[in-house]
Amino acid sequence: MSTAGPLRPDAARVHVRAPGKVNVFLEVGRVMDDGYHELATAFQAVSLFEDVWATASDDFSVSVHGSVDTSGVPIDDRNLALRAARLLASKTGYKGGVHLEIRKGVPVAGGMGGGSADAAAALVACDALWDTRLTTTQLQGLAARLGADVPFALQGGTAIGTGRGDELSPALARGRFEWVFVTDGGGLSTPQVYAELDAHRERAQTDIAPAVRQPVVDPDVLHALRAGDPLRLAAALRNDLQVAAQNLRPDLVARIEEGERAGALAGIVSGSGPTTAFLCADAEAALDVRVALSASGHVALSAHGPVPGARVIP
Ligand code: C5P
Repeated sequence: MSTAGPLRPDAARVHVRAPGKVNVFLEVGRVMDDGYHELATAFQAVSLFEDVWATASDDFSVSVHGSVDTSGVPIDDRNLALRAARLLASKTGYKGGVHLEIRKGVPVAGGMGGGSADAAAALVACDALWDTRLTTTQLQGLAARLGADVPFALQGGTAIGTGRGDELSPALARGRFEWVFVTDGGGLSTPQVYAELDAHRERAQTDIAPAVRQPVVDPDVLHALRAGDPLRLAAALRNDLQVAAQNLRPDLVARIEEGERAGALAGIVSGSGPTTAFLCADAEAALDVRVALSASGHVALSAHGPVPGARVIP
């Protein structure tokens, strides 16, 4: 005789893992009618992960812990994972709720898309938990409504983003790139960094091109990714938000120099910062860079990319 239990015992609690990202190229164009900037970016998903466990519940709640400082993460309705769950419920007519437990491994407010990864993970987890069976295209549509980086966290790997960064096309990438990330307690607000870039451009500084043309990913970046060539990628790394992040946090300039002196091929601000990303020649070089940066008092993490997007963990 079978014992009584949930109809779908495997779905009582769903575990989803989603990656953080680094923009190996980010050109920021004009401000569009919706207030967002037109972008051309190349994303790489990296092996710092957000884990989300979804459990059926009558209402919506979230708890957060992790290997990084989580004190800045809201656990009320501003939480992006919770907003993702509510959006999915309202779109599908699901009447119940969910408890989301988030274990963060991506630095908070660091420019690595940790909040976006939470939202992508919550969409995938609730879709499985509630058996709502949305198509990938439908999930991507909801993801884009939650934030410009959420579709990429869902997709993972390596991709080109245009529009707000949420219109994705795949990019061929070979091999594995080794990174060291230096996290930072003083998180930067993404809107503030974009606003600083606008102000910087208005001040007619000469160290960055004005936003006149339609942004486009540098072919050198695509070649380097396709060839799996870290040296070539290091030479082509570009992030237009870097100058703005450095205006707000001048100490990031010295930090990038420090990582390069420690043996990284190149350092760059990750997304809107203040996390700094150091591309290394191989895993051995990355270990040396991480040890050197840790020894001088930084919180340095190793990771590799590309890795897959939000996935159910059996
Ligand atoms: O979409 P998301 O909520 O991640 O964006 C955060 C903020 O970053 C936006 O409110 C906007 O100020 C800025 N942003 C932008 N252009 C983009 C992406 C983000 O101006 N393409």
